Amino acid sequence: MGAVEKKFTFGRATAIIDARMNTSLKDKWVFITGASAGFGAEGALHFAREGANVVLGARRVERLEAVAAECEKEGASSVHFHELDVACTDSVNTFVEWLKGPTPKLDVLVNNAGGAHGMDTVAEGKDEDWEAMVESNFLGLMRVTRACLPLMVENPGSTIINIGSIAGRVAYEYGSVYCGVKAAEKSITQTLRLELNGTGVRVGTLDPGLAETEFAMVRFKGDQEKADKVYEGLDPLVAEDIAEAMVWMATRPPHVCIDEILIKCTAQAAIHKTHRTTS
Ligand SMILES: NC(=O)c1ccc[n+]([C@@H]2O[C@H](COP(=O)([O-])OP(=O)(O)OC[C@H]3O[C@@H](n4cnc5c(N)ncnc54)[C@H](OP(=O)(O)O)[C@@H]3O)[C@@H](O)[C@H]2O)c1
Repeated sequence: MGAVEKKFTFGRATAIIDARMNTSLKDKWVFITGASAGFGAEGALHFAREGANVVLGARRVERLEAVAAECEKEGASSVHFHELDVACTDSVNTFVEWLKGPTPKLDVLVNNAGGAHGMDTVAEGKDEDWEAMVESNFLGLMRVTRACLPLMVENPGSTIINIGSIAGRVAYEYGSVYCGVKAAEKSITQTLRLELNGTGVRVGTLDPGLAETEFAMVRFKGDQEKADKVYEGLDPLVAEDIAEAMVWMATRPPHVCIDEILIKCTAQAAIHKTHRTTS
């Protein structure tokens, strides 16, 4: 290797190290939708530990209040929360107008609000379940992103993390609409990456497999027995596993975009193959 090449390599390495030094989330503004439970609540705590300004939205405000108190204890630079229903354009726009009070810019947006409702064949599907899934997972992500983009496009290095699912990659029986909206999330993520090319805004999808949160209880409408069956005989992912990945995605140097991450528990080799122990 010649002297010039060596110097170039060294210079580039220095530039990368410099960029890494600037990836701290201290005092950065992080907005998480669906922050009242599961991945969103745990993500909020993880960003708080990094010293970020944490902004929380969900429909259950009393839950947000509790998560906010924990975030303060964990070292957030500041914590802000407000009611948010991503299924309603007015609610999303009101939220983002309120958010512009404390901050003119966003560094991280985590589009996490959503979930599954029901588990039926297409032949037996219910309108209200289909509508709830499309409104929160799909249109909710669109509404929130549209409202937040003006706070991000002038902020190169900012990051949009969309929470997808293994279900968006491989369809399964009784999951048609949930699989469909999570597949749509992949397309939206790709479209955004194309549309934002040149702005320095990164867009990625974080796709969990089986994870124990309130997800199954919501899907089965409070039926604890059915919810427990989902995780029976295996060690599922927990919210911390996904929260760690959120922080990792958001702390890459600005020239690095994590396009996609798929995380599954070890027992889940594929959507149709999970190893379960019987007691
Ligand atoms: N757990 C899994 O196995 C798994 C796997 C792959 C992907 N995911 C995805 O991960 C995300 C988080 O799910 P989770 O597992 O953490 O489930 P969770 O514990 O049920 O949390 C869901 C969160 O979304 C919020 N939410 C739902 N509808 C909303 C709406 N219309 N407006 C605002 N917030 C809304 C809920 O808050 P409020 O009810 O207070 O509004 C709650 O904070 C979802 O997008 C889900 O599809 C989950």
